Amino acid sequence: MPPAETEQVAAYHDRTKHRLDRYAAGPDTLDWSMQPNPFREFSGAPRIELPLVAQRLITTFSSIYQPGNLEPQSFSLQTVGALLELAMGLSAWKEYGPDRWALRCNPSSGNLHPTEAYLICQNIPALENGIYHYVSRDHALEQRCRFQAEPSEEDGRIFIGLSSIHWREAWKYGERAFRYCQLDVGHALGALRYAAGTLGWKLKLVEAVNSRELSEWLGLDRNSDFDKAEREEADLLLEVMLQPMARSQHDPACLDILENGRWAGKANVLDPHPMYRWPVIDEIATATRKESVSAENVEWASHPLLASGSDRPSAELILQRRSAQCFDATASMAREDFYLMLDHLLPRQIAPWDIWNFEPRVHPVLFVHRVQGLTPGLYVLPRSRNAEDHLRAALSKEFLWEKAEQCPDHLPLFLLTQADCRSAARTICCRQAIAADGCFSLGMLVEFDEVVASDPWRYRQLHWEAGLLGHVLYLEAEAMNMRGTGIGCFLDDAFHKILGITDNSFQSLYHFTVGLPVLDSRILTQPPYPDRDVGTSAT
Ligand SMILES: Cc1cc2nc3c(=O)[nH]c(=O)nc-3n(C[C@H](O)[C@H](O)[C@H](O)COP(=O)(O)O)c2cc1C
Repeated sequence: MPPAETEQVAAYHDRTKHRLDRYAAGPDTLDWSMQPNPFREFSGAPRIELPLVAQRLITTFSSIYQPGNLEPQSFSLQTVGALLELAMGLSAWKEYGPDRWALRCNPSSGNLHPTEAYLICQNIPALENGIYHYVSRDHALEQRCRFQAEPSEEDGRIFIGLSSIHWREAWKYGERAFRYCQLDVGHALGALRYAAGTLGWKLKLVEAVNSRELSEWLGLDRNSDFDKAEREEADLLLEVMLQPMARSQHDPACLDILENGRWAGKANVLDPHPMYRWPVIDEIATATRKESVSAENVEWASHPLLASGSDRPSAELILQRRSAQCFDATASMAREDFYLMLDHLLPRQIAPWDIWNFEPRVHPVLFVHRVQGLTPGLYVLPRSRNAEDHLRAALSKEFLWEKAEQCPDHLPLFLLTQADCRSAARTICCRQAIAADGCFSLGMLVEFDEVVASDPWRYRQLHWEAGLLGHVLYLEAEAMNMRGTGIGCFLDDAFHKILGITDNSFQSLYHFTVGLPVLDSRILTQPPYPDRDVGTSAT
């Protein structure tokens, strides 16, 4: 008998599928004026305004992919500020008629932003030892906790914790929202890795921490600080590294000092009058908490990255990243650019995959619409040798499995069938034109039932990996003067049916589209922090 949690994951996943004849359960009506506050704050916690310095950074985008090429910047209020600005900070305010909304460097399903970021800092100049919550609207830190630590000769330490406020997404998307929150965590992970790369830093996932410990460390279990405010679910912890593997990552014991912490701040209520309740979200969150260490021994492929890449400043590309809402349905892209983009999805000891010390379990299936020199049709990119064997067994026996035209040897891209897939792609993506009008779109098949059975927590992890792939595509598209859009709304089994998938060995978790954007000139763009000086220290 599988453990109850494994069954719960399978049941949740199935009941939150969008189908041709019905969408997953969600609110019948939405009152947009009652949207939950997108910004969490802790009243009473001391605040530190961070400097806005990201635009001064001249690191090129391509150098993030060349390990060892960049001298790491030292830890300071400035560089910590740049990390947060480029990963989780605002990138613009948008205005249309009476509506005004903020965009951030990390994308989010429905722009609802359930992901919160925390820092745990020790021996960092101008930052007292403590735990800080990041408020993106103000580019400021709130000091939730202070603790004593022995002054040390060693470099300071910075950990980053991520959590999700599920209600933010559930308000609009109902039961499927847990999936979107997890995809957003994956994007935040990608956003943090590229931001760290811009500073010459690396990030490591702290695998030895479990959900209960992380919740304690981030102060998310403090009932009195949350009272009636929406709770946050602990997701993951990262350590920022100045040097590759400077310290053992299996060492969260250093955080024992937190036990002596003095806490401050009360969380704000985001939605005083919730109209609906979706109890299955709390249930799936509980069923997928991490209980034990997740480390794996991964063998990394050693293929060099395909040459080229953008020499524009990475900060510029990160700050300009947007989701396209509309594509030029006649534009095409060069095959070399297409292969370059896919090459960045292969797991390697290079950003952002050097953060991901796990087997690659997410495998894109692509609807190629308009790539010059490439037959339109359905393609697959198995991201591991093992997966290729499993996919050959699981997908329709009718498929061709022909290596794509002029495809570099190391890039395992296969043509499954020649076809004009535009109509199918649109239908599968909840009839969204962006899936048909991009140069290509894709669905991310993940190795599902065995992985979830091995540890139900991996249901979250699969979404994070999918979000990370999506983030690479977003930034690579910007680097090529194109644009991407994540697609969380898709008809799960309609996609599986096209592929001939009849069981749960593979499931699609996320879709994505890339093309030439058509901009909406009616929407005004305002700077992200209009009342603050950019490029000067706020201290
Ligand atoms: C997980 C995820 C799912 C998304 N799903 C869709 C979608 O189905 N359709 C769509 O038009 N945009 C989708 N988006 C794009 C978001 O609407 C977009 O990220 C958000 O509005 C913020 O805008 P920005 O990406 O330009 O910062 C998705 C984004 C994410 C991260």
